[in-house]
Amino acid sequence: MTDLTLGQSPVHAALDFFDDQHPPAGDFLRDVLTGLAATPKSIPPVYFYDAAGSALFDQITGLPEYYVTRTELALLDRIGPELADLAGPGAVVIEPGSGSSVKIRKLLDALDSPAGYVGLDISGEHLIAACEELARDYPDLHTGAICADFTTGLSLDHLPLPQGRRILFFPGSTIGNFEPDAARDVLAGFRQGMRAGDAILIGADRVKSPATLEAAYDDAQGVTAAFNLNLVDRINAELKGTLDPSQLKHVSVWNADKSRIEMHLEALEPQKFEVGGQAFSLARGERIHTENSHKFTPESFQTLARSAGFDVLRSWSDPAELFSLHWLEPNAKA
Ligand SMILES: C[S@@+](CC[C@H](N)C(=O)[O-])C[C@H]1O[C@@H](n2cnc3c(N)ncnc32)[C@H](O)[C@@H]1O
Repeated sequence: MTDLTLGQSPVHAALDFFDDQHPPAGDFLRDVLTGLAATPKSIPPVYFYDAAGSALFDQITGLPEYYVTRTELALLDRIGPELADLAGPGAVVIEPGSGSSVKIRKLLDALDSPAGYVGLDISGEHLIAACEELARDYPDLHTGAICADFTTGLSLDHLPLPQGRRILFFPGSTIGNFEPDAARDVLAGFRQGMRAGDAILIGADRVKSPATLEAAYDDAQGVTAAFNLNLVDRINAELKGTLDPSQLKHVSVWNADKSRIEMHLEALEPQKFEVGGQAFSLARGERIHTENSHKFTPESFQTLARSAGFDVLRSWSDPAELFSLHWLEPNAKA
């Protein structure tokens, strides 16, 4: 293993390298204070993903209402041979927001002799466990992990990566969690870290009936509600918060104007609380906006990709047109 860690480094024997870029933990307090002081109140979704949040997200991916994961997995199965042709042999796959590194197995199995895999996630413990498991299952693959914030771009030059064309794999419609300008910036940030000939395979959830969408983000078993409320547990545990989660309700709503599902925490009763020593209050019915999940049409996705400097070379959808995967390549630099 190559130890690239800047601070203390645990030993992750199954990995070829672990690069801890120490995504700044202190920003959690700053962002929560800023969001709670705003009108309407909001908290950025990146803070969902501590170890408990990542585990809850994994449960969400298996729920009957959450069509996203199973649809994308089936699509990957179907288009595997085309992906192998597009990528060519010996590709190095880099996955920003890799989570449990489940979908990557479909891609790795489809590709022709992939040379390497790098998972990148902000949720460090979960990332390492997932990448170590992958490294054990694919012993011939050069496998590494980066704990970093992908919104700050991709810093890959110092890593001991094999030669080969780099394919960024960005599934799950994680891009939909960003407002349109921020989504463009995330993709443009990826583009900066790419070389000529590299490509992105990206998942984008599609616009569909509000009932299907709202159910997908408010399941009958209450797992998505627990995922949303885990944010409150994190704030209370890590930021000296005194929010009462039993007086907050999970809400998912389709915002047609902005083409997105929104998740909120709505106050059942008025409450006064503190975070990091600062006082806040919620009126009955007031909401804290915790997540956006933008949905795309083929046209709106193409507009986004182009605005970030990419050409959409190919797009695929499932027969019910619930979800799409797109193959992007950087267009000629201006
Ligand atoms: C919606 S999950 C998707 C996981 C997986 N790629 C999938 O498709 O099932 C989003 C993942 O991105 C990670 N993530 C979210 N924001 C991030 C950021 N700014 N930088 C790095 N990872 C991030 C989360 O920790 C989580 O594992």
